[in-house]
Amino acid sequence: MNAVSTLYGGNQSRITTLDLQKAKQQGDIWPMLTCYDALTAKLFDDSGIPVLLVGDSAAMVMLGYDSTVPITVDELLVMVKAVTRSAKRALVVADLPFGSYQAGITDALTNATRMIKEGGATAVKLEGGTRIAPQVAALVEAGIPVMGHLGLTPQSVNVFGGYKVQGKGDDAEKLIEDALALQAAGAFSIVLEVIPAQLAKEVTAKLRIPTIGIGAGSGVDAQVLVWQDLMGLTADPAPRFVKRYFNLRDEMKSAVDRFATEVKTKKYPETKHSY
Ligand code: KIV
Repeated sequence: MNAVSTLYGGNQSRITTLDLQKAKQQGDIWPMLTCYDALTAKLFDDSGIPVLLVGDSAAMVMLGYDSTVPITVDELLVMVKAVTRSAKRALVVADLPFGSYQAGITDALTNATRMIKEGGATAVKLEGGTRIAPQVAALVEAGIPVMGHLGLTPQSVNVFGGYKVQGKGDDAEKLIEDALALQAAGAFSIVLEVIPAQLAKEVTAKLRIPTIGIGAGSGVDAQVLVWQDLMGLTADPAPRFVKRYFNLRDEMKSAVDRFATEVKTKKYPETKHSY
């Protein structure tokens, strides 16, 4: 059985980090989506999306914060539980929120363990390179698979001074160093966010583990999008890397308007909707 049938075929057992490793070896590119609730988890899982990320982007698209910085472990954990109750086949990755792992190994172990044990996730994701490699190594040693995240790491937005392309010029070498450090620490994959496509391609070629791009061009092993961006639910303008596959915002607005009109004009409910 090749990696394509492992990731997308009829096999109902849960996707593992080994399946993703095999996919890289066989050159099979896979999709990842963010997910925060039970209904979309079921839909994405039934569609065969092999990896679902309960991202801290939930801070913005679910909880209305203006960055990912404020969300807490407890807030995200509720969503991790909803997704893992529903998705039976996808590998579910839980983000570790800002402040839940940077201070050291003990914090990282305590909070990642909650995501796995209480949340039911298979893996966690954290942002940063060489600086957090000791946390990554400790988590893997403790039996927790880790997805890294480099480039435009949104938890550092206040250091970057906005959501800007990272890894340009001299920063490219540092990003490659960080990626190799995460791989050496035992990470099973790395998200590369908003970096030059050529750099992402170079990093991907240097690593044994899969890279997952978001705004990192096509030379990576997988692609991820925030589902509300993909579906056109988030407000315009979207970042350049987003492709809108649907106009959910307009479709929902139109349905809500029709509902409101039909309620006001007593067109809804009809006899068939009544008992
Ligand atoms: O939180 C998130 O949704 C993410 C993805 C954009 C990679 O980190």
